[in-house]
Amino acid sequence: MSGRIAAPTSAAVADAARRLHAGELVAFPTETVYGLGADAGNRDAVHRIFTAKGRPTDHPVIVHLQHVAQVERWAREFPDGARRLAAAFWPGPLTLILPRAGHVDDAVTGGQDSVGLRMPAHPVASALLAAFAALGGNGIAAPSANRFGHVSPTTAQHVADDLGDAVAMILDGGPCAVGIESTIVAFTGSEPALLRPGGIGIDALAGVLGRAPKAPGLDAPRASGMLASHYAPHAPARLVACGDLPSETARRAASGERVAVLARTLPRPREFVGAWVVASTAAQDYAHDLYANLRALDLPGVKAILIEAVPDNSDWFAVRDRLTRATN
Ligand code: TXA
Ligand code: MG
Repeated sequence: MSGRIAAPTSAAVADAARRLHAGELVAFPTETVYGLGADAGNRDAVHRIFTAKGRPTDHPVIVHLQHVAQVERWAREFPDGARRLAAAFWPGPLTLILPRAGHVDDAVTGGQDSVGLRMPAHPVASALLAAFAALGGNGIAAPSANRFGHVSPTTAQHVADDLGDAVAMILDGGPCAVGIESTIVAFTGSEPALLRPGGIGIDALAGVLGRAPKAPGLDAPRASGMLASHYAPHAPARLVACGDLPSETARRAASGERVAVLARTLPRPREFVGAWVVASTAAQDYAHDLYANLRALDLPGVKAILIEAVPDNSDWFAVRDRLTRATN
């Protein structure tokens, strides 16, 4: 099963680039989560992504770039605010939604008039983009490399577990540093709009833009990460206030229900039987481990995953967003 997982040697990266160029799918690490890559200029290859993920075809995919200069190839406008965000945060966990260039395929944009662009910071992603560009390629379309609706992968093994034989090759870049997906900002309306909180915080965006991007309006482009139920484990997950966790686990245990717990401040009670993970109390470290923790707790026979609620401040904004969707 793990035979397709390859250490990111220069030979493996070159092989991966050749496969992309030939229209095959290759999973690769980014600093946020692993991506399932295809040649963004090859419609059949992009369609293969949707089949492998079991994803509806009207969901757009992000095009990953090697240079800011490549934006002009995919977008017909590069507004000043977007330029400033790219200068500040690329390469990094930021995706810009811009008006698409005429040639960009509907398979990439989900039929919308916009395109999502990101320059990732992971060295293996950069090496793959460079090797692909050397073959004449112009951008790698890549959603997160999970089955549609499931928790995003933050290790090569997660990708193998989710996608099985649907992906020919998985470049292994170790666990992802950020652990949750990129922040998405759209420049398609009158003002920048935040479509998905993520690796870059709102305060950092506001520092560059002069004000925080607005919440998306009805005219904002659709993003599948905005679905109320997304990033979910198989067992139903529930958020529980810290003070209620002991009584809630005791109640469920008394009725014979097996639960797993993602705690943050509460140590495992002596009498608790089952999986109990105490995650970090620092937001960035919590995010780094979040998806791996959810996968580890999503065990056969577990009827529910109880998640200790997280703080209500801006440091935890992106984590709260993912937890809300995982528990919907
Ligand atoms: O961190 C990330 O962004 C990762 C890594 C692999 O780069 N990618 C990722 O892709 O999370 P995906 O497809 O799982 O989520 C991308 C989100 C989706 O919600 C999609 O709808 C949105 O970006 N998106 C992409 N292009 C868009 C567009 N033209 N308009 C609106 N939303 C778009
Ligand atoms: Mg995804």
